[in-house]
Amino acid sequence: MTILVTGAAGFIGSNFVLDWFEQNDEHIVSLDKLTYAGNLENLQPLENNENHIFVRGDIADEKLITSILNEYQPRAIINFAAESHVDRSIHGPKDFITTNIVGTYTLLEMVRNYWYNLDGQPKKKFKFLHVSTDEVYGSLDSNDPPFSETNAYAPSSPYSASKAASDHLIRAWHETYGLPVITTNCSNNYGPYHFPEKLIPLCILNALNGELLPIYGDGLQVRDWLYVKDHCTAIRLVLEEARIGETYNIGGRNEKANIDVVRALCSILDELQPKKDGSKYATQITYVKDRPGHDKRYAIDATKLESELGWMPQETFESGIRKTVEWYLSHQDWVSRVQSGEYQRWIDKQYQ
Ligand code: NAD
Ligand code: TYD
Repeated sequence: MTILVTGAAGFIGSNFVLDWFEQNDEHIVSLDKLTYAGNLENLQPLENNENHIFVRGDIADEKLITSILNEYQPRAIINFAAESHVDRSIHGPKDFITTNIVGTYTLLEMVRNYWYNLDGQPKKKFKFLHVSTDEVYGSLDSNDPPFSETNAYAPSSPYSASKAASDHLIRAWHETYGLPVITTNCSNNYGPYHFPEKLIPLCILNALNGELLPIYGDGLQVRDWLYVKDHCTAIRLVLEEARIGETYNIGGRNEKANIDVVRALCSILDELQPKKDGSKYATQITYVKDRPGHDKRYAIDATKLESELGWMPQETFESGIRKTVEWYLSHQDWVSRVQSGEYQRWIDKQYQ
């Protein structure tokens, strides 16, 4: 048996594939376009694993997708592939429309054709799991209840609008063509292999390099943080046990203001790698211009996933953020390779 994982060289995709092979040996075909965010080095621990195959390619490439489906006959597909950085979507939305909307559409069409031609058990058991975000629901006020699966979509950024559109396509392909789909909407992830343009790895690495820790606006925006391995566990559970055609919210019940997240990682760094001049890392915190359309608060109600499938996150924010800081401290080679080229161009454009 084989599953096809798209976006497998990115942050969550690579954590998922690595985690998968810690649990079982069912084959995975990993597909990734290797954009600036995709890094084959993330999958390097699987170099000699015969049950893992990597294919470089685009979810919008009809011929390639069809040939992968026909050759490997996957029993399921997990779609992580996306343009994922909100700030990049503000500077240039086009890639977000191309991959997140047109790419998802193309993948859906190729998969529909493949699934239509399957017979018997493979057809009956086939599943398409689409990985999405809580950002499709828009912004909460401080007293609003957390997002449930029945919240209306109200995306604010080109990123979240393109993900919302992809979720609608997934739903429509189920309602119209009967394609067996499941969608997950997860809160902000953090952990190993997180590309250092995102808040947590950016601040860990800037802190260590003696650079500013940029906080947008007043820093009081709230995100609901989930350690990436807990997200991977949820996806495996959803893949095997969730009801077809359903949506599941995934979140860690860890609501934190951005400024508190950055203070927390500064104090772990103070303990693990104190600065030579005796000052605290938090002195590097700097308030900068806010992000346009910046959502104030995200929070997830994961009751459906918890009660139907018995999922519970294993990490608290405190344990997860410590593991994350430790991972970055012990993976300096990965960091220096990732921080070259396109990453540097982005940092110059966004912060200077
Ligand atoms: P990421 O940007 O780190 O990885 C995305 C991967 O997709 C990269 O490896 C990239 O090369 C690949 N990719 C991009 N365009 C492609 C295309 N056209 N064809 C094939 N591959 C392509 O993103 P991530 O943080 O790992 O997010 C993965 C998924 O999870 C995304 O769909 C994202 O919307 C969703 N999500 C992310 C978070 C989060 O906090 N990071 C939270 C909830 C949901
Ligand atoms: P980010 O990691 O980009 O994830 P998302 O926008 O998908 O939630 O940002 C997390 C939060 O941190 C978000 O509220 C924006 C904020 N932020 C900063 O304050 N400074 C930064 O330099 C970055 C990248 C993000």
